[in-house]
Amino acid sequence: MTTRRDFIKSSVGAAGLAMFSSALIDASSLARQKKPGRKGLSAYDGQARQLLSRMTLEEKIGQMTQAEQSALEDVSDIEKYFLGSLLSGGSSDPKAGNSLEAWTDMYDGNQARAVKTRLGIPILFGIDAVHGHSNVLGAVIFPHNIGLGCTRNPELVEAAARITAEEVRASGIQWTFAPCVTVPRDERWGRTYEGFGESPDLARTLGAAAVRGFQRNDLSNPLSVLACAKHYVGDGGTAIGSGNADRNGKRLLDQGDTRLSEAELRRIHLQGYISAVEAGVGSIMPSYSSWNGAKVSGIKRLLTEILKQELGFEGFLISDYRAIGQITPDFKTAIEISINAGMDMAMEPDGYRRYFSLLRELVNEGRVPMTRIDDAVTRILRVKFAMGLMDKGRSPLADRRLQQSLGSPAHRSVARECVRQSLVILKNDRRTLPLAKKAGRIHVGGKSADDLGNQCGGWTIDWQGKSGEVTTGGTTILSAIRKTVSPATKVTFTKDGDGAAGADVGIVIVGETPYAEGVGDRDDLSLSAEDMTAIGTMKQAGIPLVVVLLSGRPMIINEALTQCDAFVAAWLPGTEGLGVTDVLFGDHKPTGKLSVSWPRSMNQIPINVGDSDYDPLFKYGFGLTF
Ligand code: BGC
Ligand code: BGC
Repeated sequence: MTTRRDFIKSSVGAAGLAMFSSALIDASSLARQKKPGRKGLSAYDGQARQLLSRMTLEEKIGQMTQAEQSALEDVSDIEKYFLGSLLSGGSSDPKAGNSLEAWTDMYDGNQARAVKTRLGIPILFGIDAVHGHSNVLGAVIFPHNIGLGCTRNPELVEAAARITAEEVRASGIQWTFAPCVTVPRDERWGRTYEGFGESPDLARTLGAAAVRGFQRNDLSNPLSVLACAKHYVGDGGTAIGSGNADRNGKRLLDQGDTRLSEAELRRIHLQGYISAVEAGVGSIMPSYSSWNGAKVSGIKRLLTEILKQELGFEGFLISDYRAIGQITPDFKTAIEISINAGMDMAMEPDGYRRYFSLLRELVNEGRVPMTRIDDAVTRILRVKFAMGLMDKGRSPLADRRLQQSLGSPAHRSVARECVRQSLVILKNDRRTLPLAKKAGRIHVGGKSADDLGNQCGGWTIDWQGKSGEVTTGGTTILSAIRKTVSPATKVTFTKDGDGAAGADVGIVIVGETPYAEGVGDRDDLSLSAEDMTAIGTMKQAGIPLVVVLLSGRPMIINEALTQCDAFVAAWLPGTEGLGVTDVLFGDHKPTGKLSVSWPRSMNQIPINVGDSDYDPLFKYGFGLTF
């Protein structure tokens, strides 16, 4: 038997080496997914259909309904509406607080109700574990996907997903709304960091790797979680001006309209789904966005013909948060359109009662055929059978023995490796890097030097994330510097960069503050005045200067680049700040390569590898080493 330690050593060690050899690992990893003998989900149809034949219409519709746990009008709605699923959204904690114990008790309490129903079908509980079990205090937080894209390392991405799965299972939860296999084509989009990068290749290779990690190539493994590839399809390709309004009332990109031919949609945005389906992904989330003017959540061509019929997807579709209601103003018609297009389960956080009764009406009126309901429920039950949730001899309640692994040193060490491999060195004049651990004094500046929240970004504890001490455990970059240098080295710190004069070297850590989804849409990606001042103040001290940028996307950095000797793009690295210092101080060589093209100016955006007039500041794939 391989122990966890062996696994981490072999996967991460080998992965570290593998990444030098090839920019994109595709053929071999794709071949590996098609393991002969792995059961497709339809292998469970016998059992699913037998159960289906015993179900009333209400029990079927219940399976197709997902409510928000914190928005249940009454907890007994779980039994009353035969709910097939619950979610905790981005800011939804258990009523008893945000401790692992409270999460586990909340999961168990809800599950215990579901199994008391006539048929005793367990609920699937879903959560956005998008970079670790990221709603839960004390969980290890991995870099967001844009940073993982720079590792070019599928084995490492798979290892990160396996660990995330284990931490999720420690709370009993068995479903993550991840991986996001979006291909963000415009950095002004607030969800840019949720994608592995701008090229379809990254979504294809790393998305599949994440699916393999979450589901451990075997949904019945007690340490697996059900994965959910999202947001199908074209969420990263929306046209500027077609999205939701930003904080200044300007319409930008999020949930907008992707105006592309089907051939282009397939070439750029479908790739991650092709490989996710090949890797056996059990669920897929259709996107809020539109395709050529129509909401994806209602397009049969995309949901049924391409995904289910052509690609052979055998799992189920879960709508995005209240997304069905966006199809058309009349909710009943919107449900009709979406379910008939192929949606199988509806994420209706607080509107689940209405959805339940309207769908029942639609079936009774013949507007949604019973065959469609049976297909949707069969798909959901297949997954529940494949996960072993229906096994008589297996409890669907949490296995609390797993709890000790949440945020454990072994898990943190893999996240730290992810951070090391995600850093991209954009400038390194006069061999400023690696830094000497024995310098007399190092001055650290910048608002993000000692800020775990800024390191983690959005989708961390809260939906939007926030600055400051967002979670327990973890290491800020400032404390990582202190832990790394020699005992004789003095480390001084001022947020504004003051007091650097006389130090041997300066490190200034600046960048974006947390945001998620459309709230992060921006038409100006310049560094803030506060950040430019901190950089300028450190520069005036006349010492060698290293800038570390924490951001969910490339920013406009021309002036900052001229002011410093070395520049490191560290993305949103998560809780393990020591991964940054491992590279800054030369214990690990930098290997990260840009997963996006770095624009010279806002006027150049959108800019993507393959463009005819391609002339970015740094090309896709750029990254220095030493
Ligand atoms: C929830 C998120 C959700 C968002 C949708 C938030 O209140 O916490 O989970 O994605 O609303 O708008
Ligand atoms: C987001 C999804 C997320 C869901 C549940 C939505 O607003 O678009 O990515 O999975 O909320 O939180």
